[in-house]
Amino acid sequence: MQTATILVTGGAGYIGSHTCIELLHAGFKVLVVDNLDNSSEESLKRVEQITGKTVDFIKGDVRDAQLMASIFADNKIAATIHFAGLKAVGESCAMPLEYYDNNVNSTLVLCQAMEKANSKNLVFSSSATVYGDPEVLPLTEDMPLSATNPYGRSKLIIEEMLRDLPESDKLKKSDNPWSVALLRYFNPVGAHESGKIGEDPSDTPNNLMPFITQTAVGRRAELSIFGSDYDTVDGTGVRDYIHVVDLARGHVKAVQKLLSKDGIDGVQAYNLGTGNGISVLEMVKAFSAENDVAVPYKLVERRPGDVAACYADATRARVELDWVAEMSLEDMVRDSWKWQSLNPDGYTV
Ligand code: NAD
Ligand code: UFG
Repeated sequence: MQTATILVTGGAGYIGSHTCIELLHAGFKVLVVDNLDNSSEESLKRVEQITGKTVDFIKGDVRDAQLMASIFADNKIAATIHFAGLKAVGESCAMPLEYYDNNVNSTLVLCQAMEKANSKNLVFSSSATVYGDPEVLPLTEDMPLSATNPYGRSKLIIEEMLRDLPESDKLKKSDNPWSVALLRYFNPVGAHESGKIGEDPSDTPNNLMPFITQTAVGRRAELSIFGSDYDTVDGTGVRDYIHVVDLARGHVKAVQKLLSKDGIDGVQAYNLGTGNGISVLEMVKAFSAENDVAVPYKLVERRPGDVAACYADATRARVELDWVAEMSLEDMVRDSWKWQSLNPDGYTV
């Protein structure tokens, strides 16, 4: 099983590149397809340096049906991890059609190619955003789902589309049914401990951690903390930050489950988070203390669309995938800073 080939769409990106490392460490072969719209091939070269193993790479778009058909015709793919997509909430409000095209259409084309090739094991990158504005915390997978922006709606639409597949298997009496893990990530941060790969946003970062690291390295004057009057421990927003290496290992566990004798019966959703809520101020303080570096900040108005708090109950992933997040807040802030300080301009080489 361990020499099986895993197709990784969007594998040159932030979470994808870290997942490639963990797949290679676990003994899998990795084939990446990525259009490099939001990444650099350099990340995959560094994955090869870190692991001493080869990553097969095809530069292309997952929406290209001919390309995807040829990939499945030319390779025996044991399972596919689908990271490729657009992910900026604000941008999705300005250009919803691009988001539906890239996210929904890529999944549609991918699944059609998978079905044709009878290669029906899929791990899909979903998001905690599918819980909308949560009323009860921590979040379990069976809580109500909703979307507050086109990005989130694209993830919800894809989840629903994938949930239709097992029924089609029953009607067709398929002897190789779909097996799909929907991984709902909370807030990925951190980087590989080598400092060689990490998050490299091409524009001004929307997310907290890259904004903190770019401020600490001097690329930004100060961090704006959005909202200090939430009903939280110190008034700032609370999130479930998860180290990207823990997240990457969650993907390996999901692939191993898909390929195991028990498999996953149809479609199952899993929260990947630590279960701990951390406030923005707690994060900034932890970052400064661990790395002995100042992060100038100011408290400003709330950011529209933000929720006060969001954190996971990840019990299902522990019980069914044998996965728990193991890395600490100190690991997250140390590794984020190591990547940024060793690569102040990201992958520019
Ligand atoms: P990323 O932008 O770093 O990686 C996505 C990769 O997909 C990039 O390398 C990009 O070039 C590629 N890509 C985009 N559209 C493509 C297409 N049509 N064909 C081929 N390649 C394409 O983002 P990431 O943070 O690694 O996120 C990966 C996935 O996880 C995304 O689906 C995202 O929505 C989801 N997710 C991310 C977060 C987060 O905070 N980072 C949270 C929840 C879910
Ligand atoms: N924040 C700031 N200043 C910044 C950036 C963020 O104070 O410059 C705060 C936010 O207000 C929030 C917290 O930091 O309280 C985290 O914000 P992020 O933008 O890093 O993350 P979000 O939780 O808002 O969004 C993330 C992903 C989305 C996904 C969502 C739910 O970026 O793609 O989680 O899963 F939809």
